[in-house]
Amino acid sequence: MNYMGGKKMKLTGEQQKKVESILSQMTLEEKIGQMNQESPSIVGGFDVPFSELIEMLTDGRLAQEEFERLMSTAKQDFHEEEIRAGLVGSVMGNDPRKANELQKIAVEETRLGIPLIIGFDVIHGLRSVFPIAIAEAGSFDDALFEETARMVAKESRAHGISWNFAPMIDVARDSRWGRVSEGPGEDTFLGSRFARAKIRGLQGDTSDTGNYVAACTKHYICYGACEGGRDYNTTSMSTSQLYNVYLPTFRAAMEEGAATVMAAFNDLNGVPCTVNEYLLRDVLKKELGLDGFVVSDANAIKECVIHGIAADDADAGVQAAIAGMDMDMGTHIYKDHLKAAVESGKVSMEVIDEAVRRILSVKVWLGLFEHPYVPEEVIEAYEKGIPAEHAALARKAAEESIVLLKNDGAVLPLDKSRRISLVGTLADSADEVTGAWAMGWKKEDCVTILDGFKNAGANVSYYPCGGPEGNLNEEELAAACKDGDVIVAIVGETTAMSGEASSKADITLPGRQREMLAKLIASGKPVVTVFMNGRPLALGWEAEHLPVMVEAWHLGIQMGNAVASVLYGEVAPSAKLSSSFPYVNGQCPLYYNHPSTGRPAGKSKFTSKYLDAPAEALFPFGYGLSYTTFAYSDLRVEEKKDCLEISVKIANTGERAGVEAAQLYMQDVTASLVRPVKELKGYKRVALEAGEEKEVSFVLAKKDMGFYDNAGNYRLEDGLFRICAGANSRDLLEEEITVRF
Ligand code: NOJ
Repeated sequence: MNYMGGKKMKLTGEQQKKVESILSQMTLEEKIGQMNQESPSIVGGFDVPFSELIEMLTDGRLAQEEFERLMSTAKQDFHEEEIRAGLVGSVMGNDPRKANELQKIAVEETRLGIPLIIGFDVIHGLRSVFPIAIAEAGSFDDALFEETARMVAKESRAHGISWNFAPMIDVARDSRWGRVSEGPGEDTFLGSRFARAKIRGLQGDTSDTGNYVAACTKHYICYGACEGGRDYNTTSMSTSQLYNVYLPTFRAAMEEGAATVMAAFNDLNGVPCTVNEYLLRDVLKKELGLDGFVVSDANAIKECVIHGIAADDADAGVQAAIAGMDMDMGTHIYKDHLKAAVESGKVSMEVIDEAVRRILSVKVWLGLFEHPYVPEEVIEAYEKGIPAEHAALARKAAEESIVLLKNDGAVLPLDKSRRISLVGTLADSADEVTGAWAMGWKKEDCVTILDGFKNAGANVSYYPCGGPEGNLNEEELAAACKDGDVIVAIVGETTAMSGEASSKADITLPGRQREMLAKLIASGKPVVTVFMNGRPLALGWEAEHLPVMVEAWHLGIQMGNAVASVLYGEVAPSAKLSSSFPYVNGQCPLYYNHPSTGRPAGKSKFTSKYLDAPAEALFPFGYGLSYTTFAYSDLRVEEKKDCLEISVKIANTGERAGVEAAQLYMQDVTASLVRPVKELKGYKRVALEAGEEKEVSFVLAKKDMGFYDNAGNYRLEDGLFRICAGANSRDLLEEEITVRF
């Protein structure tokens, strides 16, 4: 094995020797123990495994307070006996004292003293919750992606977590899928830059063991391509699509040294990823060069029986191990069946040794042998609250993730002297600011939108009126319309409406929120609509009827402060959409970089379009306004030996300062395979004072202008390319150039 040859994960000679020495002393049971991950089970009245509990918390079946109550009062089985017997390599959890307790058993009471690797779903923050990934990706700010991840790593280690089940880097083009919230959106290039930055942030600062964790990139692979946007559903695609669209985010993460990978639940072309030897061994480990280990998703090995690909649990375990699945999340199948499989010769000792070597290597790299415990003073510091700089970064990230979609009549920014009627149940709920897959936050750290307005010194009155759940209080509505000078309506989806197991066939505003908005507009008062949601919504009606639209997603603990500062113009909106927004449901899946068809949508009936809806997006990928305007000019493309040098001028033509995320696209006009109509190839955030103009330059390496064919070979084909630059994937300047490689 390559011994952590990735950029960030080099093991020293001493460390390699340590891994080999431990491995040579292990019994078969102890080796299989390392391949087994346990999660605490709640015993007694509430007999479900921790992983199920986490899912219930995520999908809204269990409220945060109820979860906390259960965790603090219910009797839990932490599998101490199995740990003591050396039968557990990893556990899940986020309680630092419990982590120390379990770690002590592993380190001091097992025969070989191998520490546990403690994993947890820290997707967009633990105590300090940052914006959901689909929102943060819209900042087009790699430095921010990295900075938030670095803080997440520190908080995780402070809570005993050394392994984050993040980043989620599934390219997702169908907004019916609830898990679009967890990832960086529809684009492969943006997703790859996001993946790299997250790995750097999580794993990069190894100067102290308290600073870094092992990343777990997921879900490998094509989970975001689940048919019909229905979670856990089947996927099927050509090799070229796999290699060009879904694999690059993982390739980027591996190049950046990602320590581990979680396999996806779905099958790809008929073989579940969990037992897919081609995907795990040939592609991930050999071609992409994963040095660390692969873990299954929760219960996934067992589910191979239900998939109908394994006869029983034992068979599923054999298939998974042979395919290269190194760790079993939560089924006990490895623990219960692998020994017999090795003894009967179904699974070779080399397979087991390889898996254990990978797992031990990550543990050694994490410094767990030398520093297995969270220092008591670190635990106590967090008990007093989160550091001020964490809240400050959460606020900055939230401000940078807000997208201004529409601002007719320049109602925004708001004047502070105006009386505000704040409307919508979502405006005053701490649960709703954090978004899907946020666990470990405390209510006292959360700033709701109502809190945010109050903190900003607004003259604000609050009228819940109604929300996604379907309620509509006409009296409150009438009062809201009567009282304020301006109405700020907060509408969207609850946290539980996106995330895992939250696919929807209808992604228009749920409940009676449209009716509520129609009534607010009918009042004649200016209405500012702020959307809180975890997925792109179908907003055709809203775009036609609402004068001002702000996409605020689920922005984390500082959401309220961020929304208030953007609406008041203290911060100018600068984010763009990381996913296209449709007019209507039926446009899903919708993405800007679709392959060219022979009959692109046009005036003629016989072109690729709908009779009853536009073919294009309502708000396309990369779209977002500010309080000023930007004009692009002078696109220049110059060919050099190994690259194209591209420059474009951007002028701030308005009266305020602003930041523009400028984007570079490319189209391979004629190729041996049908290519996308355009592909993102670069972006830069540019700060411009009012009236200022800057030239922005991009370097497009020729080696990055190719594509993979259906044999998985990378091809650079001479010919005509269209180079485009502009504010979003629709509004672009373009130049053509013939390139020879
Ligand atoms: C299921 C989810 O698919 C995955 O993202 C998560 O990390 C695991 N459960 C563990 O909670």
